Amino acid sequence: MARLVIVSNRVGVPDRNARAGGLEVAIRPTLRRRGGLWFGWSGRIAENDPGPVKIAEHDNTTYATIDLRKDDYQEFYNGFANRVLWPILHYRLDLAEFTRRDLGGYFRVNEFFAKNLEKLLRPDDMIWVHDYHLIPLAKALRERGHKNKIGFFLHIPCPPPEILTALPNHEQLIPALGQYDLVGFQTEVDATNFARYLATERGLNRVDDEGFAFGDRIVRIGVFPVGVEAESFARLARRAIESEFVGDVLGSLSGRAMIIGVDRLDYSKGLPERMNAFERFLVNFPDWRGKVTYLQITPRSRTGIQEYADIGRQVGEAVGRINGTYGEASWTPVRYINKAHSRTALAGLYRAARAALVTPLRDGMNLVAKEFVAAQNPDDPGVLILSRFAGAARECSAALLVNPYDSEGVAIAINRALSMPLEERRQRQADIFKVLVANDLTHWAERFMATLEPPHGAAGGRAQVRAAAGR
Ligand code: F6P
Repeated sequence: MARLVIVSNRVGVPDRNARAGGLEVAIRPTLRRRGGLWFGWSGRIAENDPGPVKIAEHDNTTYATIDLRKDDYQEFYNGFANRVLWPILHYRLDLAEFTRRDLGGYFRVNEFFAKNLEKLLRPDDMIWVHDYHLIPLAKALRERGHKNKIGFFLHIPCPPPEILTALPNHEQLIPALGQYDLVGFQTEVDATNFARYLATERGLNRVDDEGFAFGDRIVRIGVFPVGVEAESFARLARRAIESEFVGDVLGSLSGRAMIIGVDRLDYSKGLPERMNAFERFLVNFPDWRGKVTYLQITPRSRTGIQEYADIGRQVGEAVGRINGTYGEASWTPVRYINKAHSRTALAGLYRAARAALVTPLRDGMNLVAKEFVAAQNPDDPGVLILSRFAGAARECSAALLVNPYDSEGVAIAINRALSMPLEERRQRQADIFKVLVANDLTHWAERFMATLEPPHGAAGGRAQVRAAAGR
């Protein structure tokens, strides 16, 4: 079996206090099971020279991390990755701030990753690159002569060509994906958007159902919706609800129903819209006033970027307005917390909640939605209110699907969730849980890897891609 080499901007080195984002949550169990190497940014900014790659061994995995120079961090991470690619891939052309300098920094850091990674590579390693920070990495490795199987998975959405083409220099960037052997997406819509871009903008020919010819290379495209560890998360939640922490939270609610939201502070998550919807709910369904508390846990993120400061201010103002207008001395409608919580604490809170509000304006998948459902008590479950624009909506079609821009519609869904009969709640939770177990995190990773490098004697990659896409 080939050694697995994972490359991503963030590396989930154990024992570090870094909070785990969706990507880290998805990758960690794969490496725990299979072993291998995880390479990426250390999360540190070097004053001058970034120094050598730092190696740490934990269980069967090698963690190799590198610092970034200040200008690299600024141009690559705060600049092109998070002020250009992030907004555009989330359909937010209005927020994109492009400079040629940042684009240069993005390519430079990808080169820097390739240069440092190659010292650790073996010829038969299977390399799996994750997310929008590293689109040109395979190209940089190929130019250095590496012939390994290299796969790429995009955790965030891929918009249609009409939006992708607003990305300055897309002609240079997007075709770099042609240096991978397999490019994976979260949903059929994302994969179709990418295929349309290749056909209409690049004039590339499909060689068959799954692949495109980039010169003499065939790049396969597949759909691999990322899953969660559904059964073990359910076990964690069963234990966590008994914890002192959850007991204290429930005690402080004095018997009120709890609605929960958990999101990084990011404009893609639709937080101001969600606050408006909760306010609308209090206005349109006044009987609930004083009987329900909405707990929104929102760790700050990407704090060096103006748009993130702006969204933080907007959400803070909305919370202040709602609490000031509708609150009582004995009741605070919204509890808004910027502190990150452990997975155990979240699992317990999910199980204790009557409903979850997961209403991003656009999201690649959204693992909070899946983990909320996995955490529920099947005998008396809470209800998931989910944006139709989250990748998770396809597998969680038994949730209450909403349009996050329609605050009245979301308000109606909140009322419906809180009033839903037990039998209907059970049925909806069971329907989603079944899907989550069938496509859990292990299936996701195994399917991607088996498609990238089919085991000897197995049906070739084509059949695998078709299976992965559910065709
Ligand atoms: O969805 C993309 C993603 O990489 C998530 O996996 C993660 O939650 C988030 O972005 C982390 O962002 P950052 O690394 O910028 O803090």
